[in-house]
Parts: sequence; C-alpha cells; structure tokens
Amino acid sequence: MLEIKNLTVEVGNRRVLRDVSLEVPSGATCVLFGPNGSGKSSLLNAIMGLSNYKVVEGQIIFDGRDITTLPVHERAQLGIGLMSQRPPNLVGVQLKDMLRVTAKGKKDPQELASRLDMGRFLERDVNVGFSGGEIKRSELLQLAAQNPCLYLLDEPESGVDLQSIERVGTMIHDLITGGITCAGKRAMEGKSALVITHTGQILDYIEADRGYVLCDGMVACSGNPRELLREIRTNGYEECVECRLVRPR
Ligand SMILES: Nc1ncnc2c1ncn2[C@@H]1O[C@H](COP(=O)(O)OP(=O)(O)O)[C@@H](O)[C@H]1O
Ligand SMILES: [Mg+2]
Repeated sequence: MLEIKNLTVEVGNRRVLRDVSLEVPSGATCVLFGPNGSGKSSLLNAIMGLSNYKVVEGQIIFDGRDITTLPVHERAQLGIGLMSQRPPNLVGVQLKDMLRVTAKGKKDPQELASRLDMGRFLERDVNVGFSGGEIKRSELLQLAAQNPCLYLLDEPESGVDLQSIERVGTMIHDLITGGITCAGKRAMEGKSALVITHTGQILDYIEADRGYVLCDGMVACSGNPRELLREIRTNGYEECVECRLVRPR
C-alpha cells in the first residue's frame, strides 16, 4: 500500500532523512524504532505531506500512485491519516465540530464518541486541558472519523500513563483491524499502519509484521519487530549501525 523509495528530506534547510526506502504492504502493520532525533517523526510528516518537509529526492507511492508532490488534504482524501506526536491545542474549535468536518457526514460523531467513551469531550476545545492519555484518545477518535486506509501513528504511547495505555492500545488495535472499507477512493485489501514506538509498549496490543530501525536519518536495519525490540532493549541502538539485525527485505 505504501512504498517509500530512496527518500531524502530536508526540513529547515537540514537534511533529516537520507535515501530511506521501506514498504508497508496492504493489511500490514510496520513499526519504526530509532533513537531521539533519528528522523522518525520527519518520515511520517513527509509521508503525510506537511508543507515544511521538502522532498529532495525519491518517491512516496501510495496505492500505486506517486503522491510525492500532492498537498496534504489530497493525501488525506486518498486515505492517509496521521496521529502526530504533539498535536496542537485548537482554541475555539470544539471536538464535535472537528469530528463533523472530518467524518464528512459519513459517520455520526456522537455515536463514534460514545463508542470510544469520549462523549463528555465533544463540547471541549480540541486538546485544550486534555491529559496526555485524553489527547491520544481524541486523536484516535478523529482518525476513526476520518477512517483512513493507512494509519501513521507517531509514538501513540508517549505521555500516556500505565492505566490509560491499555485503552489507547486497544483503540489502535480495533481501528487498524476494523474492517477494510476506508476513506480511500479504491477498495483495498486491508488497513495498514506505520507506527513509531520508542518503548515498544504498543506491541503488546497490535500485531506487527515488520520493524524498521531508523538511525541518523537512514534505515539501519529491518526485521522481525519483536526481535528488533529485544536487541534494542539489550544492546541499545549502537548495535544498529553495525547491524547484526539485518534481514532481507
Ligand atoms: N522544523 C525543523 N527545523 C530544523 N530541524 C528540524 C525541524 N524539525 C525537525 N528537525 C530536526 O530533525 C531531526 C529529526 O527530528 P525528528 O524527525 O523529530 O526525530 P525523531 O522523531 O526520531 O525524534 C532532529 O535533529 C530535529 O531537531
Ligand atoms: Mg519524533
């Protein structure tokens, strides 16, 4: 569903990704590991098409179509949805209005919110005064309204306390496994996800098919996500450069 080919990206005149290639097949969930500052968020933001991420070289292919130069709203319409690491507070925008616009009349915001136990947040301004866990749940609710085919989730467990992590993890599991009808123009084989995780906690809730490790803006290695996580926990990221973990792509 998603193919990143030799992608080099600059932000603020700084090269943050170099020659990155990876693939997220239809129906697959891939995870992205990597130390702070290695370019993980930049990769997701570049895939979503946020305007300050400049693609210098390479291509982003989504569902067989080159979307490298498409504006962000067109990528969203095609079925790509992003949950940012640090979404902004939207003062003056109530969550229910955000959901109505995002769902475009295809889903009932009220019904979605009560299903996800978020009913009491509908009349609050998006993210304003929300706790860490509530921000993530509100972002996931907005993704549920958008109903994308490809979920880009940037550290969904960050800032979430241990009690809320199960809730957030279960919501993510249900979203990415929940049926195959999605907002994209074509029917596809299944929903896919590219999930950044720092701690690996999210792997307790989702089935991940492949892991990639990003180091210094480059893919250092890829392989079984649980094996990668075990290596990272044991040896840290230093080993990645040598990469004892390389598996054929
Ligand atoms: N707008 C920006 N201007 C300049 N540098 C940036 C900008 N955004 C991110 N960076 C830099 O890009 C590098 C990669 O950042 P990021 O993608 O957020 O890493 P990660 O998500 O892996 O922690 C960091 O060194 C960060 O400071
Ligand atoms: Mg990040």
